[in-house]
Amino acid sequence: MSVVILISGRGSNLRALLDSGVPVAAVISNQAGAPGLAIAAQHGVETRVVEHKAYASREAFDAALAAEIERFAPRLVVLAGFMRVLTPGFVAHFAGRLINIHPSLLPAFPGLDTHARALAAGVKLHGCTVHFVTADLDHGPIIAQAAVPVLADDTVERLAARVLAQEHSVLPRAVRWFLDGRLVIAGGRVHVKGDDAQLVLSARP
Ligand code: GRF
Repeated sequence: MSVVILISGRGSNLRALLDSGVPVAAVISNQAGAPGLAIAAQHGVETRVVEHKAYASREAFDAALAAEIERFAPRLVVLAGFMRVLTPGFVAHFAGRLINIHPSLLPAFPGLDTHARALAAGVKLHGCTVHFVTADLDHGPIIAQAAVPVLADDTVERLAARVLAQEHSVLPRAVRWFLDGRLVIAGGRVHVKGDDAQLVLSARP
């Protein structure tokens, strides 16, 4: 088995990965009540909970989380809605095999509330990014992006839904590229061996 997925909540990206046929060894949540744990269980995937609240420091939590992940000896660790900032030590331990899905076109709008910030900024394109995780939050080498138009009458909810639909296609594609050994990082940039587009532009709805 190849992939361990970390979640904190809903788990729709987790579901997209499972439905795509990606081999998932385990799903680990830092929240015992994360709905995504039930999705994993329905698919017969092992689940674990490592609650950050149970640890006195970020370092202690990250050490426990890393130990739990390594029990499954994954080739790749995917942050799919994992809402914890990871320590530099954790990131270094998993360097080159840790990726994240972020709901904006990075480097625009790192951090939280990306859809509201995109609307407030008046951007005409918004989207999502799959990237390698580095110690610099939401700034690692970009593997793939998907862009959607921002419409005049958009709300945060409508824009988020349009972006989320793209997340569900771009994340499994990026994970597959990784598992197929097609990603090359050079000079902080990611190249995909072969001709696949690393940008998806969705049609106007
Ligand atoms: C997604 O928007 C993802 O980009 C962000 O957190 C959200 C998780 O949603 N990092 P889900 O739990 O996968 O439904």
